Amino acid sequence: MTEVPLGIPEMPAPDYPDEVRERLERDAKEIIARYPDSRSALLPLLHLVQSEEGHVTRTGQRFCAETLGLTTAEVNAVATFYTMYRRKPSGDYQVGVCTNTLCAVMGGDAIFDELKDHLGVGNDETTGDGRVTLEHIECNAACDYAPVVMVNWEFFDNQTPDSAKRLVDDLRAGREVVPTRGASLCTFKETARILAGFPDQRAGAVESGGGAGPASLVGLRLAKGEAPTGRVVSPRAEPQPGEPGTRGTGENGTAPGEAPPTHPSSHDAPRDTAASDPSHPSGPVTGDEGADGRDTNQ
Ligand code: FES
Repeated sequence: MTEVPLGIPEMPAPDYPDEVRERLERDAKEIIARYPDSRSALLPLLHLVQSEEGHVTRTGQRFCAETLGLTTAEVNAVATFYTMYRRKPSGDYQVGVCTNTLCAVMGGDAIFDELKDHLGVGNDETTGDGRVTLEHIECNAACDYAPVVMVNWEFFDNQTPDSAKRLVDDLRAGREVVPTRGASLCTFKETARILAGFPDQRAGAVESGGGAGPASLVGLRLAKGEAPTGRVVSPRAEPQPGEPGTRGTGENGTAPGEAPPTHPSSHDAPRDTAASDPSHPSGPVTGDEGADGRDTNQ
């Protein structure tokens, strides 16, 4: 968003072309009808205008204000508070690397540094082809799958620098990319329209909605006494000899270190992290853990 120096009156935001405004007004009417009080529709309306231009412009803010009977200052206060609203043009895919504490120590910082070099951009910058915007993100409550990367708010669990580089390469090449939970990725504008509350048309979007993953449920299972061995059953689990996906067998065309085809994400790196990697800072899962998760040999 262009900064206007203090003391210089800001020009009124330009209006949308008639065709765009009519379409947005129709959509806005549908959104507002969901709420008892029209001003409650501000958040989805901001997503709606973001789906039009890829970020929340002054024109979009003015549209929201006029539609909801708010001041542009009130709309601006909300739009600048939430990080899901962009304030400047960005890429088709917003690649967020969690660098909060747990993800950082589990490799998030290394992933972010490698992606900066690999893409040739810094934080909140976009690649020259307009495909990828890279940014730090705060904890997104997926710490049990740290380190996580999010693309257009979809999760990619248990990432490594190599898996994250493959991910952005595929995004830039226009290849289909499937997150750990959810349907294939769509562009930021398409995502914004879904967040505005319109039907998610992606194949498998409803079926893959999913609940909590196994790692998220370990504590609950322990509390219920349902995990006597303490073994963490996670998407990282190493396939047994002879199973499809066994590393190095080449039985299913899976390259060493890549997720098997049955893994929920096309870009996880399930065998390079704690459950299987002896050199990982958290140590490997040994199978000697007791019901409380502690190693019984200690
Ligand atoms: S610290 Fe990364 S998801 Fe919580």
